Amino acid sequence: LRTGRLIVVSNRVALPRQTATGGLASAMRAALQEAGGVWFGWSGKIAAETAATVHHLYDGPVHYATIDLSRGDHDHFYDGFANRTLWPLLHYRPDLVDYNRGHLDGYLRVNGIFADRLAAVVEPDDVIWVNDYHLIPLASMLRERGVRNRIGFFLHTPLPAAGLLIALPRHRELLETLASYDLVGLHTARDLRALEEYFVHETGARLRGGHRLRLGHRRFRAGVFPIGIDTQHVADAAAQAGTLDPIEDLRSSLEGRALIIGVDRLDYSKGLPQRFDAYARLLERAPRLHRRVSFLQIAPPSRSTVPEYRQIRRDLERKAGHINGMYAAPDWVPIRYVNKSFPHSVLSGYYRNAKVGLVTPMRDGMNLVAKEYVASQNPDDPGVLVLSRFAGAAQELGEALLVNPADTEEVADALELALAMPLEERRQRWRAMMDVLEQQDITAWRRSFVAALRE
Ligand code: UDP
Ligand code: G6P
Repeated sequence: LRTGRLIVVSNRVALPRQTATGGLASAMRAALQEAGGVWFGWSGKIAAETAATVHHLYDGPVHYATIDLSRGDHDHFYDGFANRTLWPLLHYRPDLVDYNRGHLDGYLRVNGIFADRLAAVVEPDDVIWVNDYHLIPLASMLRERGVRNRIGFFLHTPLPAAGLLIALPRHRELLETLASYDLVGLHTARDLRALEEYFVHETGARLRGGHRLRLGHRRFRAGVFPIGIDTQHVADAAAQAGTLDPIEDLRSSLEGRALIIGVDRLDYSKGLPQRFDAYARLLERAPRLHRRVSFLQIAPPSRSTVPEYRQIRRDLERKAGHINGMYAAPDWVPIRYVNKSFPHSVLSGYYRNAKVGLVTPMRDGMNLVAKEYVASQNPDDPGVLVLSRFAGAAQELGEALLVNPADTEEVADALELALAMPLEERRQRWRAMMDVLEQQDITAWRRSFVAALRE
């Protein structure tokens, strides 16, 4: 039996030799390198016209097919509806939702162009896997163009409860298009419940056993598929990173101080101001830790043409400056705040040298950094993960120190506990988490989703 190609579609594509900041691109790169297939999406470039040509690039088993966006389409589709309307709503921030009607029109127009270009290259046996909130209506548009293939959708963000989803302008028109997929994948059971609740209460869909839904003549299935990382690869990279210059430089600069590390796109969903406050509270409470700890926050700028992202950047600069001004000594800087991105090879070495991984998003679909931190640890002397309860990863990594990121005292408590945790307890917690990461790695995730889609 011939099985067709796997066609992955996402707005963000990690082109060869580009640093892929963002969980979706990191994960899809790992999955496609193993399985092979086509990766279709935005080139990352602005041009005079959207999708005037499709750019093709072949790298090992992956065929990249990308299109440019016009300035107007970029502003309405990506900056506008995707990142100023959907993103804040999906991350439980209705207060930040932008209700500009032009954005939805641009979003639908760009989805239509994606559908036109894709429909032209799809072969009968191909399986199509659409990713994330930028492309929700894509399957319905492909169906309108006669595509009968299996089409799956995966949402990499949280899905809030129906009571919040209805704050989205024209929510039914958009969300009902999910029924044009054969399979809809989510990270956690909570997200799946939200999807079912929305469909049953807002659209009148019928819910059958096995998370099967029926809306009019369309039937589709939903399921929980928690995304993983390339655990073995990350562990190997971390073990080998010790000789790299940037890792040696970091280690010697620490002069024996305990390192706390955070790595996040500069996004308001990541809880960075709250994290800085909790660290400041720790320093206030525990003067004995002064000059003994160092907090490295790596925060590459993200979506910097969106006003809310510029604002969070300004807020953090002020906060980092304030905390350093308050506690620094001539030979000690409490917070090292770095607005740059680093390749995985370097990050894994940084993680391994950190006693504490501090991952405290206010909301996060999964959070791969939490998993990468654990996989990078030295098994003989592992560090401790402090993790937000509101990251999807908390569902699997119950042996982390779980915290409410908004509770400054609780996060400061967890930091103190982590810094003082005895070796035996660190080893036990790490082993339990590493077992999960080894079993449910990126390959298992891709295989289970694609198998369910072909079923
Ligand atoms: N990342 C990276 N370099 C950086 C910062 C982040 O390669 O400087 C990667 C990180 O290793 C992870 C991804 O970007 O694989 C972030 O994924 P996560 O799920 O944690 O958050 P997202 O950015 O998708 O919200
Ligand atoms: C999150 C989203 C992805 C997105 C990534 C980076 O992981 O789920 O869809 O690609 O952030 O954001 P960007 O806007 O740079 O693609």
